[in-house]
Amino acid sequence: MFFYNKFLTFAEVSFILKIMKEQIQEILQQIEKINATNSEELEAIRLKYLSKKGVISDLFSRFREVAPDQKKEIGEQLNKLKNTASERFNELQNKLNALKIDYNKADLTRTPDPIKLGTRHPLSLVEERIIDIFSRIGFTVADGPEIEDDKHVFSLLNFAPEHPARDMQDTFYIEKQPDKQSEHDILLRTHTSSVQTRVMLTQKPPIRVLCPGRVYRNEAISARAHCFFHQIEGLYVDKNVSFADLRQVLLYFAKELFGEKTEIRLRPSYFPFTEPSAEMDITCHLCGGKGCSFCKNTGWVEILGCGMVDPNVLELCGIDSQQYSGYAFGLGVERITNLTYKVKDLRLFSENDVRFLNQFISC
Ligand code: PHE
Repeated sequence: MFFYNKFLTFAEVSFILKIMKEQIQEILQQIEKINATNSEELEAIRLKYLSKKGVISDLFSRFREVAPDQKKEIGEQLNKLKNTASERFNELQNKLNALKIDYNKADLTRTPDPIKLGTRHPLSLVEERIIDIFSRIGFTVADGPEIEDDKHVFSLLNFAPEHPARDMQDTFYIEKQPDKQSEHDILLRTHTSSVQTRVMLTQKPPIRVLCPGRVYRNEAISARAHCFFHQIEGLYVDKNVSFADLRQVLLYFAKELFGEKTEIRLRPSYFPFTEPSAEMDITCHLCGGKGCSFCKNTGWVEILGCGMVDPNVLELCGIDSQQYSGYAFGLGVERITNLTYKVKDLRLFSENDVRFLNQFISC
């Protein structure tokens, strides 16, 4: 393209010269912009611009054919191009070398920069603490599915067919028989008592388990209610288990979690699967039982439901109720976490806002 020979006209020679100048300009512009972040990129630059087969060398090889009267101008431009490319290459090489560690100067005994750890979720912290308290008196942890059937969540737990907790308003159904109650309806578990039925169906007493997990109820989301939350339920089945055993274990739990001065009181209540049933209050640990806005000036706050396992439930789960008795209790992890850390809005637990979560870094 750049050949100069006696057959080319003056116009052709000028045209070739123009193209060559343009190419030099174009390469100069490219060189201004090039960058290398590692040695592979630097080597690619060297090959493209400075090697024997590179674009600049290519232009030099064509220099021989440039018309003699233009050799001076083009020669100067080519030399400038080559120098600029070499300078830029050296600059980039120095920059990369500066990034390399000088092992003679580096202090290899220095402890590394600490890896920034995330924080544990407050619900996990509280759950772990509760499990730890009960595991010290022999409770083990049992797990079960969140997608359950009516049988394990309701039928085996003595829920009457028309019990309101089975109603569509409380329960998220996944598969439901139209117009009639069926043990085979598939739903999201509304409490972890379903894990207790699974344990009773498969294990022989003595049984001493904790069932932590997420549960779902069809409720409008607000600061005080959510459509999912976390429970820890406990079950103890053995010979001669009495209500006094239940009370003593719950007192131990309350004192371990909220402090030695904590007192408990049990109020009669109703659950389909326990008889008798109770709700447990603890002395408000914010005011020490004197009365404050948190405990609505009563001095007491409710923390769990409990009772003696209904003999019907034991029988339905294949346990001889003449030989065995048991107690069960269930608490909401969010409620205990609210009491522990004074979190006022339940929604904070599931929003994944690091400004909230980071506060539990040293808990
Ligand atoms: N399953 C009950 C609930 O979800 C709690 C509970 C468990 C009550 C065990 C008594 C005994 O509300």
